[in-house]
Amino acid sequence: FKVPTPVNEPVYDYAPGTPERKALKDKLAELQSQEIEVPLIIGGKEIFTGRTAEMRTPHNHKIKLGVYHKATAKEVQMAIDAALEARKAWAEMPWEDRVAIFLKAADLLAGPWRYTLNAATMLGQSKTAYQSEIDAVAELVDFWRFNTYYMARLMEEQPYSPRGFWNRMEYRPLEGFIFAVTPFNFTSIAGNLPTAPAIVGNVALWKPASSAVYSAYFIMKLLQEAGLPDGVINFIPGSGAQVGDPVLESEHLAGIHFTGSTNTFQAMWRKVGENIHKMKYYPRIVGETGGKDFIFVHPSAKIKPLVVATIRGAFEYQGQKCSAASRMYIPESLWPEFKEMYIEEVKKIKMGEPTDFRNFMTAIIDRGAFETITSYIDYAQKSDEAEIITGGKYDDSKGFFIEPTTIVTTNPRFKTMEEEIFGPVLTIYVYKDEQFEETLELCDNTSPYGLTGAIWAQDRQALRIMSDKLRNAAGNFYINDKPTAAVVGQQPFGGARASGTNDKAGSYLNMIRWMNVRSIKETM
Ligand code: SER
Repeated sequence: FKVPTPVNEPVYDYAPGTPERKALKDKLAELQSQEIEVPLIIGGKEIFTGRTAEMRTPHNHKIKLGVYHKATAKEVQMAIDAALEARKAWAEMPWEDRVAIFLKAADLLAGPWRYTLNAATMLGQSKTAYQSEIDAVAELVDFWRFNTYYMARLMEEQPYSPRGFWNRMEYRPLEGFIFAVTPFNFTSIAGNLPTAPAIVGNVALWKPASSAVYSAYFIMKLLQEAGLPDGVINFIPGSGAQVGDPVLESEHLAGIHFTGSTNTFQAMWRKVGENIHKMKYYPRIVGETGGKDFIFVHPSAKIKPLVVATIRGAFEYQGQKCSAASRMYIPESLWPEFKEMYIEEVKKIKMGEPTDFRNFMTAIIDRGAFETITSYIDYAQKSDEAEIITGGKYDDSKGFFIEPTTIVTTNPRFKTMEEEIFGPVLTIYVYKDEQFEETLELCDNTSPYGLTGAIWAQDRQALRIMSDKLRNAAGNFYINDKPTAAVVGQQPFGGARASGTNDKAGSYLNMIRWMNVRSIKETM
């Protein structure tokens, strides 16, 4: 293939005394010493609407990062016009030239922009240096390198031509524009959703999550430096309704690339449905939504690695990953030993500001999330069916901190076993060993979601039974591992059931959604 075969970007560990740690600390100090004003970027031009919102660090209410300007219907229309104008040249550009821009963006991020995007994600979204490195650096570099490669490989796919005919397939971008709506919890996803379609020659409107405008803006600046032409991606922060409504009524809407809540995705889908008669195309609707991700343990599982995987799966990034372990099923025979080791390890977790590199956990993204998560903890505190064995306390005086909380319930359908919480809360149900198969059944039908899940066993036969029974319970399925941390190019990511359209981010399956394919038959 013409595009270089990618390998995953190495992840720095920022160990004490390393030059990488020093460089990152310097960048953190630099960013904290200045407040920035984030404009909209439409057709390459900065637009200041005067309707602003503040950006503060989630871990310290006193640290202000700056303000961002919000779009209204007027700017949305400008962005649609700018995108359609830019499309004329972008869609016609030889794909090698588009690829070059994204390979350059990947190199810039792996090089001079590395510490900027890492630090911006640490400050704006309260990630630890390591979690931020995996996300904002390595994964986003991987998305750009691997997506260009997948696109090039797809375009080589051609049909059979019998003698007398030349059949071929021509891969083109969609007409119209793509609406990318990105989440707060992964800077990499925020960078991927507008760019994956753009690599194929599409143009996009990008609405970043209101709680993560800060790092998103740096991505936009990086893309401009890499040579992305004006208008190909238009950056329009703002409220969901102010931005979303006019976009979803546009006759030029060609697709939606979304990661976020189930409710928002369903509302967008309905809105498209209401307006479909006006639209020129059936928009490609690609979305990642909620999850209620499980760890299911068989009596033959090894306990020590299970303890580590459970803690990492449930509490890294404060459980704010759509893939985070949030419910667990463990047999009675393993429970006493697991419980003892687990509580001991959870006690060792350090929580505080991400700028203190010793912390494993930091703050929750914002007040809304803090209130939702703590309401579940309060609910469990009051219930006769639940006992809290770790954490349970929270404090928003300095930042939005919630302890790593573990609820043990006697009811496998307890509220916190069923509903998505999106925070550092794990609920455990201890089952009777002889009820292994019934409990598998419960695991399969307790939640409407199907994003990630992990099964644990040494016994091969048990693994087969679990794998078969939970066939549709998770789009990303892990055997003897945590249910988080899918790697681009290794575990294409995407949920089943109510968790999303299963169009696997970071794989050719996602790239193909952004292509219009013309089949051509020529008679010789
Ligand atoms: N890709 C992330 C993970 O696998 C979730 O979005 O943890």
